[in-house]
Amino acid sequence: MRIDIITVLPELLESPLNCSILKRAQEKNLAKIVVHNLRDYSTNKHRRVDDYPFGGTAGMVMQIEPIDRAISQLKTERTYDEVIYTSPDGEPFAQRMANTLSMAENLIILCGHYKGIDYRIREHLITKEISIGDYVLTGGELAAAVMCDAIIRLIPGAIGDEQSALSDSFQDNLLAAPIYTRPAEYKGWKVPDILLSGHQRKIEEWEHEKAIERTRLRRPDLLID
Ligand code: ADE
Repeated sequence: MRIDIITVLPELLESPLNCSILKRAQEKNLAKIVVHNLRDYSTNKHRRVDDYPFGGTAGMVMQIEPIDRAISQLKTERTYDEVIYTSPDGEPFAQRMANTLSMAENLIILCGHYKGIDYRIREHLITKEISIGDYVLTGGELAAAVMCDAIIRLIPGAIGDEQSALSDSFQDNLLAAPIYTRPAEYKGWKVPDILLSGHQRKIEEWEHEKAIERTRLRRPDLLID
């Protein structure tokens, strides 16, 4: 998989995309993330990529030309499954969407900034608008990093134990069961006996019950759909 990210703040993406699992996935050629500085596509001598909005509202708007130039250039090089725009008014990002996107070959993520982008970009160039939650970030870079992390770790081979991606919270619309490690007792706080019993089938039943119980308590909305 290849993900091209278009941003005015490439430095904000450097470390989150080059650590741990994302770093290893790229070293193993399972994923390639290429960050493009939108200012490289500006024809303005000050490398400007924003302008005042028509209609006199406050704030600045990202201009259409540099974005169109960047996306068009990338599209001459390969075919993209989706051209994504990060925005608080996009479709909510969730595990199901991460699963679908993890099967893509090539993705573009355009990071929003300022008051937003010229709406014609959304109408004509963007195929998917994604929000990572009901709050407003200063820009779309952290949202892009969150999405890359959630997507790339699902690519087979990206995490050592593939089974563990399948047992994640949300994978079956259930939160994960509680998990413990040694020591079996600490300050009198005990690991549930069942987990020490060695009885695999009963352990799995217990984990499933706990997953349902925790979901009912914390996220009953997940049990509805
Ligand atoms: N840009 C600003 N806020 C955002 C959010 N919540 N999700 C995605 N992109 C954003």
